Amino acid sequence: MSEAKRLAGEKAIEFVEDGMIVGVGTGSTVAYFIDALAGIKDRIKGAVSSSEQSTARLKQHGIEVLDLNHTGTLSLYVDGADECDPHKRLIKGGGAALTREKIIAEASKQFVCIVDPSKQVPVLGRFPLPVEVIPMARSLVAREILALTGGQPVWRDGVTTDNGNVVLDIHNLSITDPMAMEREINQIPGVVSVGLFARRPADIVIIGGEPPIVLR
Ligand code: 5RP
Repeated sequence: MSEAKRLAGEKAIEFVEDGMIVGVGTGSTVAYFIDALAGIKDRIKGAVSSSEQSTARLKQHGIEVLDLNHTGTLSLYVDGADECDPHKRLIKGGGAALTREKIIAEASKQFVCIVDPSKQVPVLGRFPLPVEVIPMARSLVAREILALTGGQPVWRDGVTTDNGNVVLDIHNLSITDPMAMEREINQIPGVVSVGLFARRPADIVIIGGEPPIVLR
């Protein structure tokens, strides 16, 4: 799948325009995008990064990383996904960067999602749904999620997010109403964010392949 990820990441470069500040997601597909972005780094003003991992890669390439508080609205955000449905709604957070990813997606006019074909699903939920949680609320949130969704929350042991929080992955879901589930999980005290991108889905999805497919 890494070849498909590379093709998707490189295709996304076509959406980068001169002078842009580019929002950059996290993950192995995004790593290919960052590497391709390095080739045109003199044409952009810089990047806003969704994780320490992406920040490190951007800086290695000499791409300036800017603070979202100083940039205002971004024209473009490029990020991967763990699942993508036919309405461009996503599950994200496999790399535990979901909260910052959600913030940048919200701050961006256009969200281009880059995936390999295995990420396409008819209904979200086969991939365990990540939820970032304040550490002291871990058990409470797990109980409430079980009662609310019927899914099985599993603590991603040993993982601390860039924000100092923990991640619960909810298994055995079939998410027929992603908007409602996103809203309801977000309302549980202790939840920082849920890796459902339904309220703010992708605008464009690029599926890596020969040639890449661009869904608009
Ligand atoms: C990180 C994410 C990633 O975009 C998602 O996990 C996909 O990763 P990859 O491109 O490595 O398959 O949401 O939090």
